[in-house]
Amino acid sequence: MRGRVTIVTFFIALPCIRCDAPDGYVVDKTTDIGYRIFYQSQTWPVARDECEDDGAKLAVPKTLEEFSFMQKLVRGMHYPSIVDSEYQVVVWLGINNLDDYRIWKNIDGENINETGFHEWATGNGGGYSDAPEEPHCAGLDAVHWLRDFWCHRRQPYLCQINLKNKI
Ligand SMILES: *[C@@H]1O[C@H](CO)[C@@H](O)[C@H](O)[C@H]1NC(C)=O
Repeated sequence: MRGRVTIVTFFIALPCIRCDAPDGYVVDKTTDIGYRIFYQSQTWPVARDECEDDGAKLAVPKTLEEFSFMQKLVRGMHYPSIVDSEYQVVVWLGINNLDDYRIWKNIDGENINETGFHEWATGNGGGYSDAPEEPHCAGLDAVHWLRDFWCHRRQPYLCQINLKNKI
C-alpha cells in the first residue's frame, strides 16, 4: 500500500516542472516568470488591483525577450473570450505616466527608459500633456511595440508572477 502511494506520487510529480506556477499561468522557462491573460476586461487601475489579488502584478517587459514572450501570448489570445471591451486589441501592462506625463513608469515606480525595454509603436509613448484626454496607461497588442491607451477603457490584461523571487 505504502509502495503504491509512492509510485503514484512519483508519476504525478514527474511532469510537474514548475509546481509553484499558479493555475492559468504560462511560465517562460528562461526567466522563471509566469504570465496569465485575463479576458474579463477592466480599467487599468482595476486590472492592477486584480493582478495583486491574484498574488501577481500587471506585467512589465524589461527586455526584448520578455516583451516577445508576452506578445506571443497575446497573439495566441482567444479573442472571442474577451468580455466587456470595446477595443479588444490592447492588453494592459503595468506601465503608466500618471505621476508625470513626461515619464513612463512601471508599477514599481521605475522609469522604463532606465529598466531596459521601452520600444513604443509609432505615434505612441509621447506623453504630450497631463490632460485626461491623453492616453496615460500602456499595453501591447499582437503587432506593434508598446501602445499608449486611455486608463479608463476596459481592456483584457496580463499579470505576471516572478517565480524565482517567490519565497
Ligand atoms: C525615453 O526614451 C524616449 C525614446 O525611446 C525619449 O523620447 C523620451 O524622451 C525618454 N523619456 C525620458 C523621461 O527619459
